This record gives sequence, C-alpha cells and structure tokens, in this order.
Amino acid sequence: MSLEYKKQFNLPEDITYLNAAYMGPLLKQSADLAKKSIDLKSHPWEITPEDFFDPIEKARHLIAQILKCKPDNIALIPSASYGIATAMKNLKDLPSGEIIVIEEQFPSNYYSWSELAIEDGHKLISVKRDMKINMTEAVLDSINDQTRIIAMPYVHWCDGQKFDLALISEKAQKYGAKLVIDGTQSTGAVHLDLDKVKPDYYITATYKWMLSPYTMGFMYIDEKNWNGKPLEHNWINKLDAQNLSGLVNYKHDYQEGARRFDMGEKSQFHNMTAFIAALEFIETTGVDTINKHCKELTNLIIKNIEDKDHKFYYWPSSQRSEHILGLYFKEQNQLEMTKQKLQNNNVHVSYRGQAMRISPHIYNTEEDIQRLCYDL
Ligand SMILES: Cc1ncc(COP(=O)(O)O)c(C=O)c1O
Repeated sequence: MSLEYKKQFNLPEDITYLNAAYMGPLLKQSADLAKKSIDLKSHPWEITPEDFFDPIEKARHLIAQILKCKPDNIALIPSASYGIATAMKNLKDLPSGEIIVIEEQFPSNYYSWSELAIEDGHKLISVKRDMKINMTEAVLDSINDQTRIIAMPYVHWCDGQKFDLALISEKAQKYGAKLVIDGTQSTGAVHLDLDKVKPDYYITATYKWMLSPYTMGFMYIDEKNWNGKPLEHNWINKLDAQNLSGLVNYKHDYQEGARRFDMGEKSQFHNMTAFIAALEFIETTGVDTINKHCKELTNLIIKNIEDKDHKFYYWPSSQRSEHILGLYFKEQNQLEMTKQKLQNNNVHVSYRGQAMRISPHIYNTEEDIQRLCYDL
C-alpha cells in the first residue's frame, strides 16, 4: 500500500527519507502544478481577479475539513512565527502574571513569549522535560491563578513527545489562561480534537507533515477571538475587497470570521495550486490513515532495537506520538558512529537537541525502516 503512496512522490530508490519533521516532500502533482503557476506569473494577463480570492477559499475549506472545524475559523499565514506574533499581539496588556512554555520548544514559539514577558512584566515559566515523569501532569502542576498564557506544542519537535492537551485546556480554562498551540509537528499526522481542546490559537506551518510548499501555513482562531487585531492591515481582508476598482473607498469592516488575520498577498499564485493539491491529498488519504501507518513504522523500529535496548532510551508509548521517534543514545560516540553510517548509506534523519529524530510519513515502507535499523 505504501508503495502506491510512494509512487506519488519523487523519492529516488537510493534515498531513505525518514525526515518529514524537517521538510515534507512535494507530491509530484504539486511540483507539476507549481511549475505551471510560475509560468502563469510570466503571463500576468491570465491572472484574473477571481484568482486572488477563490483558490484561497478552497484551501481554507480543505484545512477546515482536515481539522473538522469551520472555514471561518481558519486564517492563512506564511509561517508559524507569523501566527504566534498574531496571538502575541492579541494577548498584549493582560495583567502581569505567568507565561508557561515547555523546555526546548521550537524557537518561533519561544521568542515572542520571552519578549511579551519583558514588555508586560510576566514571569516566563519553562516546564522542564523529564522522561521519568508524566509531562502532562508537570504542565498541569504549573498552572495556577497567576497563569495568563500557555504557549506550547502538541508534539515536541525534538523527539515526538506528546501532551494531553484536553486535560491542559480544562485546567487553563478554570484559571482563565489563554492557550496557544503550535501544531507544526502534528497537523496532518495526528488528529487534534479542537472541540475538546478549544485552543485560543492553533498554529501550523504546513511545509512538513502537510507536504506543502514553504511559506504556507494556517492558524485556527477560536470564535471568541475573531474581533481581535490582525498583525497587518492589508487591502485584501477588508469587506468588498473583491471590487478592485472600489478599493479607493477605504473600508473599516473586515471579511467574516478569522479572515481578517490572513497574511498580506495571501493569494500566493506560485504556491497555491501546489498547496491545494497537498491539502487534497491529506484530506483524501485521511489523518488517521497517515497516523496508523506512521505508528506501524515507528513500532517496527522499536521492535528492531528492543534487543539493543542498552544503547537507547526514548519516551514511553503513553507520552510518545506515533509519527516521530526520538532516540537518545546512552553513549555519545555511538551516536556519532551511527550518524556517520546513516549518512554514508543515504538514510536521512535529523538531530535535534540530544535526540536522533526519525520521522516517517505515508510514503515510507517497511524496507525503509529495515535500511535504517541495519545501521542502528
Ligand atoms: C514545532 C515547530 N514549529 C514551527 C516551525 C517552523 O517555524 P517558522 O514557520 O516560524 O519558521 C518548526 C520547524 O522546524 C517546528 O518544528
């Protein structure tokens, strides 16, 4: 089955690509469409006013279908940091208190909060990671009546550690704390029940697990935040922007839902068709199918290394996501040797913090895992 998926990508036989957490490959179909889109920019007379609006609405609908929410909840953004900056702007000037982050979380989801902490006199609390304890409980223990914002990932980028966001959200709501989630290392590969988690902002850069072009992403914005302030004040998010000749009549009202938070130049002619093809692929394949497939592959790695258990440690299954396996080597020199062997054999993984991060996707096969395990 995965061979059928693999055929839809340009993945050469001699490359073992287990690095979706770094960069998802484009589908062949997306790559072909992107080439056509570049050509379109050479013929600008073929770009119609509808091209500014219709494709982006299609993308918005597909994201909503994947997330199981309303298209009105979705804003289109170019990067996770843009989404986090938008959240930060709207969470400015809360009474001083505490902002909770997770140790070693991705820098784009750290710097905004360390800035805000200085600006608004908050204390930044970094929850220490430890495999020997339950990390969801560690986050729960750090929430109290001083907590203003919890900004954290669903799945940790370094090693696939996963949190129970429904439990964290329940306590956050009890104390009136705002919840900002970075879904970059989860959306497309792990389902998140938005109805249960009810994040204020759920942000994803889509160039990894959602197999999209670079500089595409989205943020889910809860309805109660739709009246907030966008990061920029562009023409295209205002009411009646479709009427190009009428743009000289400045408008104060925005288009409905979260559209006011869309990035400027959101129409992205060069990226949009490839983006839509990727979203259609994720939607038709199904996040659960992708998750199940990745789980089979990461379990296979664990099965293969079980008897070499003395060499590695990793998060227990109760705290580990299905699609990313972070292996920690007990001996540094073994890590270096393995890194060299994998490089020599064209097996692609990443090294983040102290972890070797292995991240298969739907195009990977059991044979890919055997090639990896041969060198472990
Ligand atoms: C968890 C996480 N968030 C965000 C990003 C990307 O951030 P940005 O879109 O700001 O470059 C990455 C990239 O590795 C990531 O792993």
